[in-house]
Amino acid sequence: MSCPAADLVIRTPRLVLRRVRPDADLAGMHAVLSDPAAMAYWSTPPHVSEDQTRDWLAAMAEIAPGEGDDFIIEYQGRAVGKAGLYRFPDIGYILSPALWGQGLVAEALMPVITRAFAVHGLERITADVDPRNAASIRLLAKLGFAETHRAEKTWLIAGTWCDSIYFELTPQVWASRTA
Ligand SMILES: CC(C)(COP(=O)(O)OP(=O)(O)OC[C@H]1O[C@@H](n2cnc3c(N)ncnc32)[C@H](O)[C@@H]1OP(=O)(O)O)[C@@H](O)C(=O)NCCC(=O)NCCS
Repeated sequence: MSCPAADLVIRTPRLVLRRVRPDADLAGMHAVLSDPAAMAYWSTPPHVSEDQTRDWLAAMAEIAPGEGDDFIIEYQGRAVGKAGLYRFPDIGYILSPALWGQGLVAEALMPVITRAFAVHGLERITADVDPRNAASIRLLAKLGFAETHRAEKTWLIAGTWCDSIYFELTPQVWASRTA
């Protein structure tokens, strides 16, 4: 019997990746999404109200199975971030700053990427990163993503134009790195 996607739980050495639980995840995810450091290069300014985070969690809960594959990152029983594909084939991730620099998001993304190719059959995974976001760029490089192109003034966030570097990972590169 296959596990229904809504019940899917992935365990890594230090993390649990699971589907969003909008009520239970509100406090943990609002702490992350309202944090100016965590949101410095996000596609929106930091959340200023719990209602904003509630809407964000509801949108995550409504992702149709064929359209995305997104997970809450749980660490020591708490929701501390998210990792996954909100819309195929774009990957996105965020983690509480208190936990940065321990390889946790790389650990979370490994099974997510494997599923994207093996279960969802994606021909590529893409990422759109602010050129100033050195940690995210380093993370993608560690995972085998390659830069494809750049563009200026792609996002207008709180009145400031931001640029993008676009990255791509193919199943072939992923297979060669995980063989
Ligand atoms: C990007 C982010 C997810 C990384 O999470 P993390 O768990 O700390 O990532 P990892 O530890 O797996 O890897 C990060 C890598 O970047 C490196 N790094 C961290 N800060 C850096 C910096 N300022 N400059 C260069 N490299 C940096 C780390 O040393 C590590 O590389 P290493 O393993 O070779 O030492 C986290 O910083 C975050 O949540 N940022 C805010 C949200 C965000 O920007 N998301 C991406 C939007 S495109």
